[in-house]
Amino acid sequence: MEGKTAIVTGAANGIGASVAKLLARSGRSVVIIDRDENALSETLNSIQGAGFAAHSICADLSDLSVPTRIFEEAHHVFGGVEELVNVAGTVDYGSLQTYSADRLRSLLAIHVEANYSMIQAYVRASSDRRLHPKAGGSVVNVGTMHALRGVSKTSAYAAAKGALHAMTRSLAIELAPLNIRLNTLALGATETERLRNDMPPDLLAQRLKQIPLRRLATQEEAAGAALFLLDNEYITGTDLIVDGGFTAFGDQ
Ligand SMILES: NC(=O)c1ccc[n+]([C@@H]2O[C@H](COP(=O)([O-])OP(=O)(O)OC[C@H]3O[C@@H](n4cnc5c(N)ncnc54)[C@H](O)[C@@H]3O)[C@@H](O)[C@H]2O)c1
Repeated sequence: MEGKTAIVTGAANGIGASVAKLLARSGRSVVIIDRDENALSETLNSIQGAGFAAHSICADLSDLSVPTRIFEEAHHVFGGVEELVNVAGTVDYGSLQTYSADRLRSLLAIHVEANYSMIQAYVRASSDRRLHPKAGGSVVNVGTMHALRGVSKTSAYAAAKGALHAMTRSLAIELAPLNIRLNTLALGATETERLRNDMPPDLLAQRLKQIPLRRLATQEEAAGAALFLLDNEYITGTDLIVDGGFTAFGDQ
């Protein structure tokens, strides 16, 4: 992995922080992005403290002028970017009857617009071919099993993440001639502080009954799947489901 640089968004907390730490341990230089300044500093200190190369940029990705600036700064610090992992996002469940247009718009802004703009900036920055000549480029977008099966009161989140899955598939075809691969990670419930805070205990207990493996994914398991997708040079345009069997389970 010597010499590769990866950008990880949403790296201040939860899954994004775990992805950034794993990529750093794998030998990549990492550029970590988030709007949560304090937690982002903690991730940066943890990676640098372990002796790995990292640089942080505090930014709100719903500002669409941000991605170009991120790639310019990453280029300046590490000389180019080969890989991109889009993790940043919010989960906001609610029923159709009570959901507001603003809440729907803010989900679409981060999961669709921000990720689209990050990929666009990545490809533009890569067009001066600073990509590894053999491995090309690789993008992993963090999606969800909500994009693949219906779950009550998640329609706005499912719409936003479903668009991300569809967009990734189409871009994989469009960008294959540039040897840039794109894949989506369809995560099931994954153990993060946010999930523990957001999910009422009774709903969590009910969800666990629907997961054949009867537990949540660890952040390390989610991060490991992202690393697998980055590394495998023949996988593109796919959804990798990491959900303990939730999507496969029919007997509910
Ligand atoms: N935890 C789960 O069970 C689970 C399951 C499936 C998918 N996901 C997806 O994984 C991703 C991470 O989830 P998590 O549970 O680790 O959440 P988290 O809240 O712990 O981490 C998300 C990070 O994204 C950042 N972020 C959000 N909006 C941003 C913006 N506009 N600009 C910059 N940074 C922004 C937050 O500050 C935060 O640090 C999300 O996209 C989520 O939809 C999570």
